[in-house]
Amino acid sequence: MSTSRIKNIAIFASGTGTNAANIIQYFKQKKTAKVVLIVYNNQFAGVLKIAETNSIHSLIIQKEKFLKGDAYIPELKNAGVDFIVLAGFLWKIPALIINEYRDKIINIHPALLPKFGGKGMYGNFVHEAVLSAKEKESGITIHFVDEFYDNGKTIFQTTCPVYENDTTETLAKRVHELEYKYFPKVIEELIEKKQ
Ligand code: GRF
Repeated sequence: MSTSRIKNIAIFASGTGTNAANIIQYFKQKKTAKVVLIVYNNQFAGVLKIAETNSIHSLIIQKEKFLKGDAYIPELKNAGVDFIVLAGFLWKIPALIINEYRDKIINIHPALLPKFGGKGMYGNFVHEAVLSAKEKESGITIHFVDEFYDNGKTIFQTTCPVYENDTTETLAKRVHELEYKYFPKVIEELIEKKQ
């Protein structure tokens, strides 16, 4: 039986934060890990309200310090962060953080990488590209984060159909359902494996 302590997750998110809310909720009932910090870079991010509602510390970050300074490593260490989960975070993760948290940073992408990834491919831009390419299926990719956009090793993928009459909204909704269903479980499994 493992006697390891409960692990601390930081979620980096700068959008509406529906995945963040889902992950926070999931880990409330778990003994493996809990969400201790929300990191965001946009003062209007919906995720801030989610942090407040759940009484989780939040940290707004500035680009200069994040990309060219100490990358907020002291703040992450002070919060006891063990794992970093990106859920709608658009800045590239600096090498300082990658090196400190190697194989402990994961991202979710709303399509089947390596297709439809890279800089600028986020949110509805991804779904528009999938629809324009007349793909028959899309899905989610959960992967490790390295120095490059959407490039780290894939941990998990699952698919959903794309229908001829789909809009970006209908496709986004189907993909979001997969995210809610699988992302917390994949995070949990990864943390258990690293114990
Ligand atoms: C998700 O679709 C995720 O795949 C992507 O950013 C989106 C975040 O959505 N990386 P939300 O803010 O969690 O609703």
